Amino acid sequence: MKNKPYIVALVGSYRKNGVVSSAVEEILASAGESGAETKNVFLPDTHIEFCTNCRSCTQEEGSTRGRCVLDDSMEELLDMIERSDAVVLASPMNVGTVTAVTKRFIERLIGFYFWPWGSASPKIRNSEKNKKAVLVTSSAAPAIFAGLSGTVQKQLKTAAGLLGATPAGVLSIGLAAQQIDQELDERSRKKARMLGKQLVEAVG
Ligand SMILES: Cc1cc2nc3c(=O)[nH]c(=O)nc-3n(C[C@H](O)[C@H](O)[C@H](O)COP(=O)(O)O)c2cc1C
Repeated sequence: MKNKPYIVALVGSYRKNGVVSSAVEEILASAGESGAETKNVFLPDTHIEFCTNCRSCTQEEGSTRGRCVLDDSMEELLDMIERSDAVVLASPMNVGTVTAVTKRFIERLIGFYFWPWGSASPKIRNSEKNKKAVLVTSSAAPAIFAGLSGTVQKQLKTAAGLLGATPAGVLSIGLAAQQIDQELDERSRKKARMLGKQLVEAVG
């Protein structure tokens, strides 16, 4: 019998009850109802140090990610993602791009590249993409303007690729800062639930 699909979500919002967190909860709840096992990781609560640019994780050639010298939760998190079938990567747009806490995580993915000293640019170690990803963004601006002017989706797509995932869907929530405690609008909630179901179908 096939194991349950395993889906790991990484939430790079600063608010546990904000729009992005609510959207991810809907995706995971729907995926759970469709038979997946899910794990929700709130990045601000996770011990992730800043990359120090020592580049030791990029020096050894090979297809598996280079090991980081920093002692934090990153290895455990990446092992968990490696075991998953799909990921949900989520960040609000702050100053045109992903939040700092999301960027800190993305910078720590440098070990997925082989990039020895003396080489001008990094080479991805393993270009296999055997996972699926759903990308979630939110912005004060309408979604279409945020998509045109910002780089959130691009950053999340790069992160998904490094984690071995191709995007299976995107949820962009515009006009997300109209009120202090704004709730997820009904259209986004429905789309989040649909994406959760589709993600399970795509990997199940
Ligand atoms: C520091 C900061 C910078 C922001 N920059 C932008 C921006 O460049 N463009 C935009 O549309 N919204 C911007 N916003 C609004 C956030 O995108 C919005 O509050 C967020 O999507 C809500 O997500 P949350 O409910 O998960 O916190 C910014 C908010 C903050 C606090």
